[in-house]
Amino acid sequence: MSIPYLRAAGTSLVLDARGTGVPVIVHWGADLGDLNGELLETLADASVPAISPSSIDVPLRLSLLPTLAAGWSGRPGVSGFRPGGRGGVALDLRLTEVQSGGVRAGVPSASGRTLPGTQALTIFLTDAAARVAVRTDLELSVEGVLRLRHTLTNTGDDPASAPFELGSLDVILPVPDRAGELLDFTGLWTHERRPQRSTLGHGVWSRESRHGRPGHDDSYLMAAGTPGFGFRTGEVWATHLAWSGDKHVWAENSALGYSALGSGELLAPGELRVAPGASHTTPWTVAVYSAAGLDGLSARLHPWVRSWSTITGHRPVVLNTWEAVYFDHDLPTLARLADAAAVVGVERFVLDDGWFTGRSDDRRALGDWFVDPVTWPGGLHPLIEHVHAAGMDFGLWVEPEMVSADSDVARAHPEWVLGGVDAAGVGGSGAGTGSASVGVSSPALTWRFQRVLDLGNPDAFGWVFARLTALLNEYPIAYLKWDHNRDLLAGSSHRQTVALYRLIDAVRAEHPGVEIESCASGGARVDLGILERVDRVWTSDTNDPLERQQIQRYSSVLLPPEYLGGHLGAATAHTTGRTSELSFRLATALFGSAGIEWDLTRANEAERVQIATWIARYKQLRPLLHSGVVVRADPSDPAIELHGVVSPDQNSALFAQVALAAPRAALPERMRFPGLAPERRYRVAPLSLGAPPRTIQDAPPAWLAEPGSSGAAGAFGTDGSVTLTGAVLALVGLPAPLLAPEQAALFTVDAVDGLRSVVTDQASVTRAVSAPRLADSAESRL
Ligand code: DGJ
Repeated sequence: MSIPYLRAAGTSLVLDARGTGVPVIVHWGADLGDLNGELLETLADASVPAISPSSIDVPLRLSLLPTLAAGWSGRPGVSGFRPGGRGGVALDLRLTEVQSGGVRAGVPSASGRTLPGTQALTIFLTDAAARVAVRTDLELSVEGVLRLRHTLTNTGDDPASAPFELGSLDVILPVPDRAGELLDFTGLWTHERRPQRSTLGHGVWSRESRHGRPGHDDSYLMAAGTPGFGFRTGEVWATHLAWSGDKHVWAENSALGYSALGSGELLAPGELRVAPGASHTTPWTVAVYSAAGLDGLSARLHPWVRSWSTITGHRPVVLNTWEAVYFDHDLPTLARLADAAAVVGVERFVLDDGWFTGRSDDRRALGDWFVDPVTWPGGLHPLIEHVHAAGMDFGLWVEPEMVSADSDVARAHPEWVLGGVDAAGVGGSGAGTGSASVGVSSPALTWRFQRVLDLGNPDAFGWVFARLTALLNEYPIAYLKWDHNRDLLAGSSHRQTVALYRLIDAVRAEHPGVEIESCASGGARVDLGILERVDRVWTSDTNDPLERQQIQRYSSVLLPPEYLGGHLGAATAHTTGRTSELSFRLATALFGSAGIEWDLTRANEAERVQIATWIARYKQLRPLLHSGVVVRADPSDPAIELHGVVSPDQNSALFAQVALAAPRAALPERMRFPGLAPERRYRVAPLSLGAPPRTIQDAPPAWLAEPGSSGAAGAFGTDGSVTLTGAVLALVGLPAPLLAPEQAALFTVDAVDGLRSVVTDQASVTRAVSAPRLADSAESRL
């Protein structure tokens, strides 16, 4: 047991826990095969490096919690001090015990479920002189996902002892030298998860969030890989911090000879004081190795997330009212919108911002979580009854962590507002006007004219919990869109994030049937900490399909697509002003948790028929899209991308060939379909969502043309199909249609061994679209 060896699904970890030093990860990466105790011992011995000149006089090893005391002059794993004690002294931790947990509660804290097959190790360390102990939990799931976290205890239990002021407590994992290329993410509002690549020289590449939420520029994943690693190729080691507050994640390449990935909560000075006898547990760091590029990361992460997901049923098709009506709420308008939604097949109607007392714009009323009596004299009941009668369930937007200075709650309880509210800020009509002078004269800045409710204040917490549960008790609400529209800029991110988790957990405990979506000005809070508690994330505030292609592509490296809210927006996107064709918008929104964010009452009849066709297809495809393996071909031309979802049994798949811009050559690269079983035969055929994509070609590729014809000029070619083996489709591929820029073509791929396909059953789509809902009286309401 002194050299634990954990193996799962092609990945492994070897830990040298001999002696009294902090254990060392000898290997994290590919599975090393069967190794008995003797071979492990030899491996650990053989991993002890030389002693370099002008260095410490023992071999330097990068431990699980490295500090200066062990000769590690890179970024330390733990730092802190005890006021009145000796300053500037690194902890010198010693190993006291290693426990092998076998199968343990390897689960997200919120669910409390156990995951079968998880291998667990617990490592106990202590610095007797500093009176600090650290416990490290390490787990490897059956999918090969590694999780680590530390718990630091102040063992100075004498009440007179000072608290331990924690500076940092981070997870540091070694990566080999060959992982010299980095990928992480940045972004801004409506442009989240933009990839950025770099080559790490000696030093630290650190991404830090001080937003009080991960932020639009969230690093998301920190991946180090072999040079040029792509979606399908290269070795990759990646980490993610399952935490929704401030954090730092970094890659370090030390001149001492080690490279590592680090992650942990970013603590402000004095933010975390561990009292005598008390403990602090860090968020989990989730770490994944892939021998097959970024798709290999998803292949571990998606089934792992699905194994503990809070999602119970299928993801309903949503209509969200935000871009349809904004703050202009009234019953007749929303009832008409609900009717139009029901007719095309929407399953959930979500009333966005604007429903509560005095909320006529974004400058006021947050925190006054009472239904506006003027707009809604009968409460929300008439609307909800209408929505139910139309066959949909009902969702409601809330922003529980926020408060407007111009609100009854802030006026009554200025002490609940983080950063405080001055007299001008609380009361007068000038409150929260957003003018520069307010920012200067107020004790804290407004952002979208709003402030943050101090959830760490038990009274504020109790009040907002009571309001949320009162709404859920009064109304049959199936779903909360839980928004968060500003950085904190005041107060403690740690305290607020812990309280937020407690609040969601408490609401869920009281109303276990209610689903929650995490939204933060779009996708500024998408992380595995919040994911333990929610059923959907709002991926971005942009519904522009061109932006969405990239945002969804990279968001789905970490998260399974069923979590990623993606909506069909208006032809001209509200966030970019770019106009896109309906077929491109539909093909883009299909690959997530699909919905609509458009005033459908303005859509013409042809558009509504197309949308109904799309929804019927989505419902048919949902089992595949939301349980399958996400695959992305590595493009040779950045303007052209191919991505898809393959069923776990490799019987069927759906692919999208996407033209983001004009191709760089007259004939784009062949479509090479990844993820199929090489020896099986598949039929590839185009899939129509009601309207074919626009092409610029004199004739389609021969395989797409109607049998016996050479294809008409300009036609996409919807009648052709071809049957080939998975190996041929992956290695040789098929000529692509010449898509116009900002178009996407969909292809079904079905094994032709007698199994009925879930994706090519045209009859059921036709039935759904021409069903009485669209054809009879309902249609007259359109
Ligand atoms: C920001 C969200 O991201 C939007 O979808 C919308 O809910 C608005 N807030 C409402 O204020």
